[in-house]
Amino acid sequence: MKIFYNKKDLRAYLGTSRSDSETVGFVPTMGALHEGHLSLIEKGLSQNALVVVSIFVNPTQFNNAEDLKNYPRTLERDVTLLKTLSKDKIVVYAPTVEDIYSDLVISESFSYDGLEHEMEGKFRAGHFDGVGTIVKRLLDIVEPESAYFGEKDFQQLMIIKKLAEKHNIPVKIVGCKIHREVDGLAMSSRNERLKPEYRNAAPFIYKTLKSAKQKFGTKSANKVTEWVINQFANHGLLELEYFTIADEKTLKPIKRRSNTKKYRAFIAVFADDIRLIDNIALK
Ligand code: PAJ
Repeated sequence: MKIFYNKKDLRAYLGTSRSDSETVGFVPTMGALHEGHLSLIEKGLSQNALVVVSIFVNPTQFNNAEDLKNYPRTLERDVTLLKTLSKDKIVVYAPTVEDIYSDLVISESFSYDGLEHEMEGKFRAGHFDGVGTIVKRLLDIVEPESAYFGEKDFQQLMIIKKLAEKHNIPVKIVGCKIHREVDGLAMSSRNERLKPEYRNAAPFIYKTLKSAKQKFGTKSANKVTEWVINQFANHGLLELEYFTIADEKTLKPIKRRSNTKKYRAFIAVFADDIRLIDNIALK
């Protein structure tokens, strides 16, 4: 399997191995790969001759220095996992911070027509500027025909679509379904840092989302939200940061319900010091 640690070598390789008729897919990640990531890569492999997987813990999108320091870095294990999918159709790009940011680690500022001010944008200052900065750079380096993002980070997916549109980046942004553990917990690189009691408690998040979806069939968004807040107020371990029912397109909190719009429920929860997010499509 080809692994590149700098953009020059990666681009030289892509320049020679890319034929006109074959497409390149791209899956950006921060590593500590799990089956959720692999499902994106598999989708990429099914649609392209070659898939570039980037593994880079991007400093500019972390608003918490401890979180950045503690983020798992498991390149060797990641590469072993990737080899189980394909040895010759996957190319790994694992750049250094210098390769991406030269000497200065600076986040650009982006406007995504307001998508960035909702939910994660409210609670993680500067996060989406950091995500925009890195994803734009990576797309410029890899120049893929398609790039794959998980609905696990639904707001990020919408923001990347907006980024590509606003900056006229010729790439198709493909959204991929959320991959879950058997007990329903959305897969995340952060799950492996959960202490056992918190890991055992964490499936409560998806369970609550599923009940919220059911209740949304007959109850108002306010009533459902109240119910969710109560569920977590009575929970000894998990602490709710936010629960929002929002319009899927604008990500703005629902006001008056409309039959022509699609809604989604979004949640962020602290399990000890680990922050977990999830979401579910509502009818
Ligand atoms: P990371 O958290 O590593 O996720 C990489 C991609 O995998 C994202 O598109 C994310 O939505 C997707 N993903 C993670 N868990 C998933 C799951 N359980 N099911 C489906 N997809 C899942 O998201 C990032 O990295 C970074 O912000 C990045 C885009 C790489 C920019 O640094």
